[in-house]
Amino acid sequence: MLTLGIDTSCDDTGVAIVEDFTRIRANVISSQGIHLEYGGVVPELASRAHLTLLLPALDGVFEQSKLRPEQLDAIAVTRGPGLAGCLLIGVSVARTLSLTWKRPVIGVNHLEGHIFAGRLADPSLTPPFVALIVSGGHTLLTLVRDWGDYVLLGQTRDDAAGEAFDKVSKLLGTGFPGGPVIDRLAEKGDSAFIGFPRPFLDRVGYEFSFSGIKTAVRTYLAGKPAEVVQRDLVHIAASFQAAVVEVLTEKTVQAARMAGVTHILLTGGVACNRALRAKMTERGKPLGLSVCYPPPVLSTDNGAMIAAAGAFRFAHCPGHSKLSVDPRAVLETSPTTKP
Ligand code: KG4
Ligand code: ZN
Repeated sequence: MLTLGIDTSCDDTGVAIVEDFTRIRANVISSQGIHLEYGGVVPELASRAHLTLLLPALDGVFEQSKLRPEQLDAIAVTRGPGLAGCLLIGVSVARTLSLTWKRPVIGVNHLEGHIFAGRLADPSLTPPFVALIVSGGHTLLTLVRDWGDYVLLGQTRDDAAGEAFDKVSKLLGTGFPGGPVIDRLAEKGDSAFIGFPRPFLDRVGYEFSFSGIKTAVRTYLAGKPAEVVQRDLVHIAASFQAAVVEVLTEKTVQAARMAGVTHILLTGGVACNRALRAKMTERGKPLGLSVCYPPPVLSTDNGAMIAAAGAFRFAHCPGHSKLSVDPRAVLETSPTTKP
């Protein structure tokens, strides 16, 4: 089965063709540089950029795969959550292609897509496992009881972890997106330099809060001369990153132990963070927990994960073609998603 996947949920235009859930035949991701100067994603600019980038990305996957549209079996597109204007571009194009090529189209939940990135990266990954979906728009822990059967364990009450990386990078004047920059700076810094708070760490449960850490960084920086901030930049980055990583790691390990699973999936843009990957692996090992994280090209937003999740839905939920745009949707929890 060949599935075309389209993701236009935020600021990456992702198109891919996936064969039989796990084999990526082509994967094109066009990142939108226009947001750099604003220090964050500007929704109106993002949707306009999708309009420009989507058709060349489509050409790109056919060129890469040497496939033709008539060889496709289905079209999958992100229906939400995401920025409404951006989702509309992807959904409209997918509907048009569906009519033109006479192929079925299915709307995919973006968060389920991130879970299927794990399956693409490691075809041996088998439920049950705990998934930490951590990106610029989301931070949530879910128990994957089976493919398509999810129990939401907890999520952030305010900012997503990636949002905190981006905002702290803006405070430090180190650019957007903040995650990769802070990841690099932190490598050379002392993570014990400043003791930033670890919100909710001592609370029972799996909820997160990251706006407090961001405010603590702002308070720390207030009134500091620019040259002092510049001098200590790597230490501030390392101390901030350590606080976020510790909370994410401890809550995820606790969730995995509570659920009695032996596997953890880290997925979403922040799952590219090297300190997070290392810490989670190190914490999990003595507890018998193995940690899977897709490579960066599958951790950040991409069309391949949407194609894989869409192929699963087509195969297991015949007639399931919910193509409404649902920008605020969360990951539907069991039993509604049980095929
Ligand atoms: O999954 P994604 O591409 O888009 C959303 O669905 O949000 O994630 C983007 C987020 C941004 O906030 C970015 O700063 C963060 O992922 N990110 C990272 C790293 N690479 C990307 N955060 C921490 N460390 C990284 N290496
Ligand atoms: Zn995402």
